[in-house]
Amino acid sequence: MESAIGFFVRKVLLVFNSLNNSKVVCGTLCIYGVYKVVYQLFLDPLRHIPGPWFSRISGYPIRIAILSGNLTDYLHSLHRKYGPIVRVGPNRISDSNTKDFKKVMSSYKYKKSTNYDSYANGNPTDVTGELAFGTSFHAIENDGYVIIDWVNAAMKSTIIIEAFPILKLIQHVLPGIKSKEEKLRAFCLDSIKMRQDSIENNIFDARRVDILQMYLTSINTYNQKPLSYDELMTEMVTMLIAGVDTTSITLSWLLTFYMLYPCVYNKTIEEIRTNFPDTDTVIKYKDAREKLPYTIATVYETLRMKGSVGSDLLRESPEDGVELSGLFIPYGVDIGMFVAGAHVDPEVWDNPHSFFPERFMGDNGESLKKEIVAFSSGIRVCPGKKYVNV
Ligand code: HEM
Repeated sequence: MESAIGFFVRKVLLVFNSLNNSKVVCGTLCIYGVYKVVYQLFLDPLRHIPGPWFSRISGYPIRIAILSGNLTDYLHSLHRKYGPIVRVGPNRISDSNTKDFKKVMSSYKYKKSTNYDSYANGNPTDVTGELAFGTSFHAIENDGYVIIDWVNAAMKSTIIIEAFPILKLIQHVLPGIKSKEEKLRAFCLDSIKMRQDSIENNIFDARRVDILQMYLTSINTYNQKPLSYDELMTEMVTMLIAGVDTTSITLSWLLTFYMLYPCVYNKTIEEIRTNFPDTDTVIKYKDAREKLPYTIATVYETLRMKGSVGSDLLRESPEDGVELSGLFIPYGVDIGMFVAGAHVDPEVWDNPHSFFPERFMGDNGESLKKEIVAFSSGIRVCPGKKYVNV
């Protein structure tokens, strides 16, 4: 005897046979659309996560916020309304809780989300040039440097492809953007080859250890071989993209805060002048740490208020899921750890929206410094953090 499902399928096929092709296509799309909406609204495993209703069926609002440069404000507004965990797409949540941040970032169980695949890797100023390549790019003397333009182009293409992953398929023919990214990669390859030449010809000062040198002497733990050209280039482009804008944005905000708060500026200048009256003395890192606690506090407060990584750091929930802020997140969900949100987490910060460097002074201040996650935390913490502190 024919089963009920078989009978149903036969009837549906009969109806489809009686329609022309365009009607079949439209009908199939409509049925799929209705199924998707019903599933996302009533059956999907993230339906208990608070958030705007449209996040259940579309990731486009957050993509538009990314493209328009409003991601930080957009996420802040959602967290204000819905709390520390917010659903921002069919398979994506944002989390602004500091404890969750440390939990997720401290374990290899949470892989970087596939969204990172769109990152071409790379961005710098003169300092990053010195740190990474052992040479200044002379951007300051030259009123900018072509690399900055290449890095910005690489960042733009990354953001556009993250928002519209389908474009990855045609990125090689996207005008302008791709060619600048290729110039950036070619620049890195040239720098690597020049360094290898100068090592071979004994004209490289081996006492100088910069990031490129560390990579050249590293062994890939997966295959026990030195890094290939492709690996070296990817690492160096990443270094440029990750190091340039982040550092310059932080310094720009620090100067802006000094201008906005003359009392903070005067206190900083007084601390520096009192401890280092001779303006020709080069202030060493160790001395600055000991004698300039207020100046250092202004840097921490700037990182808290205006950390240069405005986006959320995406990780994938592990196979057995995870509980965050009392909500269960099942396997395979993109968890966006929202740095700017963690920096105003009311469980940690008093008057989080006020610029108040004094909060980082004294013993309590020292423990609050550990709550700053501008460089992320845990196992994939920013490798530039130590250099930036210097
Ligand atoms: C104020 C300056 C900086 C800030 C706020 C900053 C922030 C961050 C953050 C939040 C991450 C984690 C990204 C993620 O997990 O998705 C990161 C990663 C990274 N940063 Fe920085 N960074 C700064 C400067 C630098 C500098 C100067 C360099 C290099 C010279 C650098 C190199 C990197 C690299 C290579 C990664 C990727 C690490 C990995 O995936 O394991 N950063 N940075």
